[in-house]
Amino acid sequence: MTDIQRFDVDTAGPAEWARFHRYRRLRDEELHPGEPQSTDADFEHAARRRMPFFEAERFVALEGAEQVGNLMIWRRRPDAPNSEPFAPHADAWLGVLEAHRRRGIGSRLLQPLLAFMRTHGKTVATMNTFHPDGHAFLAAAGAVLKHRAVESRMQIDRLDAGQLARWKAEGNAGGALQFEIHAGRTPMERLAQLMTPFSDMFNDMPLGELELPPARYELDGYADWYRELDRSGGEHHLVLLVDADGMLAAMCEAYWDARTPERLYQRLTGVARAWRGRSLAKAVKAAMLENVRARHPGLRTVITYNAEVNAPILAINRRLGFEVHRRQGFYQLGVEALAAYMARRGEPAA
Ligand SMILES: CC(C)(COP(=O)(O)OP(=O)(O)OC[C@H]1O[C@@H](n2cnc3c(N)ncnc32)[C@H](O)[C@@H]1OP(=O)(O)O)[C@@H](O)C(=O)NCCC(=O)NCCS
Repeated sequence: MTDIQRFDVDTAGPAEWARFHRYRRLRDEELHPGEPQSTDADFEHAARRRMPFFEAERFVALEGAEQVGNLMIWRRRPDAPNSEPFAPHADAWLGVLEAHRRRGIGSRLLQPLLAFMRTHGKTVATMNTFHPDGHAFLAAAGAVLKHRAVESRMQIDRLDAGQLARWKAEGNAGGALQFEIHAGRTPMERLAQLMTPFSDMFNDMPLGELELPPARYELDGYADWYRELDRSGGEHHLVLLVDADGMLAAMCEAYWDARTPERLYQRLTGVARAWRGRSLAKAVKAAMLENVRARHPGLRTVITYNAEVNAPILAINRRLGFEVHRRQGFYQLGVEALAAYMARRGEPAA
């Protein structure tokens, strides 16, 4: 018999944590074979630390002495700034080990999600998957596919240095723009000036049919992230193109983690509307790759996520040598659809 229990990261003892780690290592190897996994200490640190804007609840599915599944639910903390537009929203993710699937465990893990949504007045849960089982399950539960993303990877030794140099050189828009490059960290005073233009660029990206409040870049988020980077030896890389008044025309953000030194994770690349069609996205990407590669000769792979409908950035990435690694679907599940699914399955009301 499967037992669903709350997992409290602050009070769990060593035996419960050991069981949790056994489970998540198996799960991650099944879901993402060969990918680096967190150490137990790093995982527990991440699970216990107070996030600046969000808080999480965790549940586990147990069979005898072993854990076979988990559910995690996030919500924007009601006392965080700008939390009001997030009031109806929750995010959730669940997994069940392959050997235990199709026995109703995933559905039972949705029970605490339904209870959470009702308790906190949430009407929609956003969930995502990379896997066919996940798509089939979410569709069966009444969730609606709203957005697709693509994870692409590039092997850096295939980079054409000549092409990079040409792309970078094209970035000054006939002398109207100049590069501003921050390697490792960007001063907080400079970041403070960039939060609004970054948010505008992010919100200009296609996110399919996902119904979500506009994103807001926040300085406290960077301060918190930098503390984590200090702890892990990570770096934030930022390449900007700015005009004579320091106004932002294009940006490219990436991060590097000392625990996976052969990888660079791209974050947002964006060009302000007034500057589009002038090859600036290629220029900031090329400058980023050139700089980080010079700083970390051991770099091998660059990883990036893009909306499947974002043809311009996918085309640039293809020309840089990125290849599709995997595809991700984002779903939204309404509280009433979830309740109806639980009733159909004969699960007791939450
Ligand atoms: C998604 C997941 C948690 C489902 O766990 P599970 O315990 O197998 O789910 P259930 O047994 O409760 O399945 C419920 C229903 O979903 C549907 N379903 C689940 N997997 C399916 C599959 N591979 N093919 C077709 N239908 C499927 C079926 O309708 C199933 O009911 P049935 O078995 O009575 O026909 C599991 O497949 C998983 O861990 N996937 C990888 C992680 C992931 O993608 N998570 C995303 C969710 S946020």
